[in-house]
Amino acid sequence: MELSLKEIYKDYFKIGAAVNIESVDTCKDLILKHFNSITCENAMKFDATEPEEGKFTFDDADKIYGFARANNIPVRGHNFVWHQANPEWLFQNADRETLLRRLENHVKALAERYPDIYCWDCINEGILDDKDGYLRKTQWLEIVGEDYFNEAFKIAAKYVGGALFYNDYNEFDPIKREKIIRKVNEIRDSGARIDGIGLQCHLNLNHSVDFDEIKRGIEEYAKLDYKLQITEHDVSNYARGDSEMHDGITFEQYKRQTKIFKEFFKILREYKNEIETVTFWGTADDTCWLNYFPVRGRKNGGLLFDENHEPKEGFYAICDF
Ligand code: GLA
Repeated sequence: MELSLKEIYKDYFKIGAAVNIESVDTCKDLILKHFNSITCENAMKFDATEPEEGKFTFDDADKIYGFARANNIPVRGHNFVWHQANPEWLFQNADRETLLRRLENHVKALAERYPDIYCWDCINEGILDDKDGYLRKTQWLEIVGEDYFNEAFKIAAKYVGGALFYNDYNEFDPIKREKIIRKVNEIRDSGARIDGIGLQCHLNLNHSVDFDEIKRGIEEYAKLDYKLQITEHDVSNYARGDSEMHDGITFEQYKRQTKIFKEFFKILREYKNEIETVTFWGTADDTCWLNYFPVRGRKNGGLLFDENHEPKEGFYAICDF
């Protein structure tokens, strides 16, 4: 296979992959050939790096970061503040001041250990999907208060040289999009440094009808003077909400997946001046998180390379333009 994604897209945007400590070995050749940005799938999350207060476990993150540095691949950091993947101690006996101090110690330690990360997701998924609510009810919100967004970005800016992002999913739903825009502007208006919006772009088979909305969404975000990155792209072979165990993926499903990859990348190329990086949430289908979510053991394969690391039709579709 001669085609290389990062070469083909070199005049457009960086092509990233989320990797874990297994795939960084098993998918090494694919990563080196196709990707010029790396995100740690879980290895830099709070519970993975600070399971006990002040006791840091950097082995997994070091392995991935070391691999990236040795091969001159830029790393994007993921993430400081989220409602998941937190160690229990973090919220125990914590008032506002304590929790912010714990966050500051954490951010400082990661920023010092990984100084040349080019951007960090400072906050992940803090906004509600539903029509009737604004902010996700998290312990961050409960303990620190509504301004935890601003505070987290202010803390991060003290230690992080790279760009700071707010990252979320369902970002093309017009209602959620408006809430994300409202929030990032509020963060900026508070005087905090926020540089970018991360658009996760976990798509699925029923997104095939919604390309106009995706386009409109990118346009609305692009108007705002924030960096934009696609941070967690994949295309599930099932529709959103389908949590049945199926026999396998049909040819028809793969065809639809391919079409979505193709159409989505066509739109992304149109906005190449606005989009800095497009990261896939995984490298190849054998280690894709969609094989475990929402149904454990249901093979899905939402990526461009199959279980044997061979390129799928979707790969060729996005290389052909
Ligand atoms: C979210 C998170 C990621 C990852 C994915 C799926 O989108 O931001 O860190 O956990 O879910 O695994």
